[in-house]
Amino acid sequence: MARAAAARTRVRVRPATMADAERIAELRLALLAEHRSNAIYSRLRRDAPARAIELTRDQLASEREAMFVATKDDRIVGLIRCIDQRGHRLLRPARFALISTVYVEPAVRRRGVLRSLMDAAVAWSRERGLTEMRLQNAADNPLAIAAWDALGFRVVEQIRLRPL
Ligand SMILES: CC(C)(COP(=O)(O)OP(=O)(O)OC[C@H]1O[C@@H](n2cnc3c(N)ncnc32)[C@H](O)[C@@H]1OP(=O)(O)O)[C@@H](O)C(=O)NCCC(=O)NCCS
Repeated sequence: MARAAAARTRVRVRPATMADAERIAELRLALLAEHRSNAIYSRLRRDAPARAIELTRDQLASEREAMFVATKDDRIVGLIRCIDQRGHRLLRPARFALISTVYVEPAVRRRGVLRSLMDAAVAWSRERGLTEMRLQNAADNPLAIAAWDALGFRVVEQIRLRPL
């Protein structure tokens, strides 16, 4: 009985579909809400909820990127986006995997959900012949810093901002 219950509540990862767009949009807004003191990500547009759905649908329709969702009891509790990104025209590699829009609901954190989502993104990237992953994270987000450090990403560049 206990084993059956555990199996029912296990977190699974699958590719996102158009039917997931509204829930994914919700998680994107939750991700931004956790960055409400950040200089860039706190500047939410008033119509962000509607835009989030439209943006998600556009991204789900793109052949150059993939989204994977983590589900628990059929509810989406985590998300990752992976883009086949063109590199700088003077540098190698010509393309790399750009990780973006990563979110795991607070109730299921520290259970390896991000690790599972990353496994799916890595497999997708390798299938496309990509050999490198990159991502940006907010400098004031200790959870992201801890997670990306643990998953083998080192800091190679910084984003600076100055008002005009
Ligand atoms: C960052 C985030 C995606 C991690 O998701 P998660 O499912 O909890 O991550 P995992 O359980 O797979 O953890 C992977 C490793 O990262 C590290 N890590 C994750 N959260 C951590 C924390 N709060 N403190 C210290 N280390 C942490 C650990 O080394 C962990 O491995 P371990 O549990 O075996 O020690 C999640 O905390 C989140 O959604 N945060 C808010 C949004 C966000 O920051 N998104 C990333 C934007 S770039």
